[in-house]
Amino acid sequence: MINRTRRLRKTEGIRRLVRENKLTVDDLIYPLFIEEGENIETEIVSMPGIKRFSLDKISKELDEVVELDIPAVLLFGIPTSKDDTGSETWNDNGIMQQAVRFIKKNYPSLYVITDVCFCEYTSHGHCGIIHDNDVENDATLVNLAKQVVSHAKAGVDMVAPSGMMDGMIQTIREALDNTGFPNLPIMSYAVKYSSAFYGPFRDAADSAPTFGDRRTYQMDPSNRDEGMREATFDDQEGADILMVKPALSYLDIIRDLKNNFDRPIACYNVSGEYAMIKAAAEKGWIDGERVMMESLLSMKRAGADIIITYFAKEVAKVLLKK
Ligand code: PBG
Repeated sequence: MINRTRRLRKTEGIRRLVRENKLTVDDLIYPLFIEEGENIETEIVSMPGIKRFSLDKISKELDEVVELDIPAVLLFGIPTSKDDTGSETWNDNGIMQQAVRFIKKNYPSLYVITDVCFCEYTSHGHCGIIHDNDVENDATLVNLAKQVVSHAKAGVDMVAPSGMMDGMIQTIREALDNTGFPNLPIMSYAVKYSSAFYGPFRDAADSAPTFGDRRTYQMDPSNRDEGMREATFDDQEGADILMVKPALSYLDIIRDLKNNFDRPIACYNVSGEYAMIKAAAEKGWIDGERVMMESLLSMKRAGADIIITYFAKEVAKVLLKK
């Protein structure tokens, strides 16, 4: 027989030589939930191993991230006060800004990214200003500009807008360029679906909408071509990195972006994906470590250059053992 594909699977030596994709610690971004206040270290029930920290309690977590050589963190802020516009997001002394200053001062080698949105900061839990029971796009853009400039002044390394407003990348690019931050990159949540996989996160970040849902701004899970449109606009508006979110049920979209855009592609391995693996592993129904590694590897194979994942510390530990 001429064609025997099994020849190249015979031993670990040859399997290593022909292996096409690898997961490394360099691919990973670790999300952190930072809550305003003191003495807070609260385990998130639906995300075992993940906690909300106040800044006075977060050093142990950051020491570990640096020790494990994880290159970057993605910050989410949980403020003590919310209002209908989310005005705390552009308070130069808000929890996000304090967190950025704290981390950049004490862990200068860690690359700090902020999630730029309003849902954790608005009393109604939507990702912008409400008008007629819906998020008003252009009024929200004005506030987005204020928010990113405030993050930039605090010293953030990269901003990651997640609100799915039209024109958000152009608005943010112009705001940063006009205030002396032309070199600050933007990672766009470019193709973000309206997904049930965000459930545990909304508990973690206190960001569930109090009425309605996010289907007028986040994408319909049925749509693939529209993902290209979203990514095209963000690419044209100057996004430096394009993200797909969630990851596991949207591997086709990750591959579409990889094939069609000359930008690094990121994906977000979201809270529900994390919770499912954790729950099944706790029950003893799957091998949690192997399923974790296989899922993240599938994102690399689909074309992701960067993976945002709550598993980052665990993955780093597994990779160190090898
Ligand atoms: C919005 C935001 C969300 C997530 C990240 N940024 C939630 C949403 O759109 O409702 C979800 C992350 C996850 O589920 O892990 N600021």
